[in-house]
Amino acid sequence: MNTKIIAFVNFKGGVGKTANVVNIGACLAKNHSKKVLIVDLDAQCNATYWLLKKETWTKVMDTPHLTVCQIFQDFLYKIKSFDFDECVIRGVPRAEGGLSYIDTLDILPASLNLLNAEDDLHSDKNNFNSTFFKILGKALKNHVADYDYVLIDCPPNIHIITKNALYFADYYIIPYIPDYLSLSGFKTFCSIVRNFQTRVGAIRGNSFNPRIRGIVINRFKHVGNVFTISMNELLIQLNMLKRDDLVHPDARIFNPPIRDCVGVAESSSLHQPVILSHPKSIGAQDYAELTINFLNYFEVIQ
Ligand SMILES: Nc1ncnc2c1ncn2[C@@H]1O[C@H](COP(=O)(O)OP(=O)(O)OP(=O)(O)O)[C@@H](O)[C@H]1O
Ligand SMILES: [Mg+2]
Repeated sequence: MNTKIIAFVNFKGGVGKTANVVNIGACLAKNHSKKVLIVDLDAQCNATYWLLKKETWTKVMDTPHLTVCQIFQDFLYKIKSFDFDECVIRGVPRAEGGLSYIDTLDILPASLNLLNAEDDLHSDKNNFNSTFFKILGKALKNHVADYDYVLIDCPPNIHIITKNALYFADYYIIPYIPDYLSLSGFKTFCSIVRNFQTRVGAIRGNSFNPRIRGIVINRFKHVGNVFTISMNELLIQLNMLKRDDLVHPDARIFNPPIRDCVGVAESSSLHQPVILSHPKSIGAQDYAELTINFLNYFEVIQ
């Protein structure tokens, strides 16, 4: 299968990385019968908590060795204990009562221990080399071939664990809330990502093309003109980034912007994606439409 591995990254917090991974993942699986794996790489465990019922979540909290964190622990302690089939939770979300789930949506859950793992990776400075970026890919590459899409929810930073996602993924999506402050950090972020690619490409001895494929606008508000002005500036910025080879030449702003929607915010506390919890909401409509455009974009890439 031509598995598409896509990392949702932004070093800014609260811009919709998790909301996009959960809701685009759910639309791909439910509306388009795609087999989707969500990889939760964030110690905040937001995607995991969003999609699991409370008792499953509690079990995950009690068994951190059954989470994605074990991949990094194995590397740090030179053991081989990560078992994909034991860790992956299939057919999420399983809502309280167990009735509502999408059988082709799986998640590799996160653990709070990812924070310690990140610290331990950083303190291992004496041994630091490019193998530190390959940990995730090495552990997962033989397990993802059955999936159409692997969506990685990254933490709001660009440290070693996020760089593992950047190394493993074929494509990057940047969730983004258009306001002036977000725009000011956007070019810096793209430059950091590109520098990492150039550096790692040099180590690998091959080219590592710009992989930023697009931006998903989140929490869009029509009131006032701040958002409209920021969107126009973002488009200008994107064209400049293409010229400077910092993003892929076909990178785009995916349509439609996801509007600010109470249903999306509430759906996390109901442990369901918005298409299940509030199927008639504007958030559900926007995610369904965006996923069609997302598919049209990614399905033609060989
Ligand atoms: N379209 C939306 N409408 C309303 N609320 C939203 C929308 N999208 C996301 N939210 C809410 O905004 C908050 C931040 O979203 P989310 O957690 O997805 O961001 P994030 O980038 O993953 O954050 P972090 O950097 O902390 O991981 C969450 O409470 C989420 O429920
Ligand atoms: Mg998040």
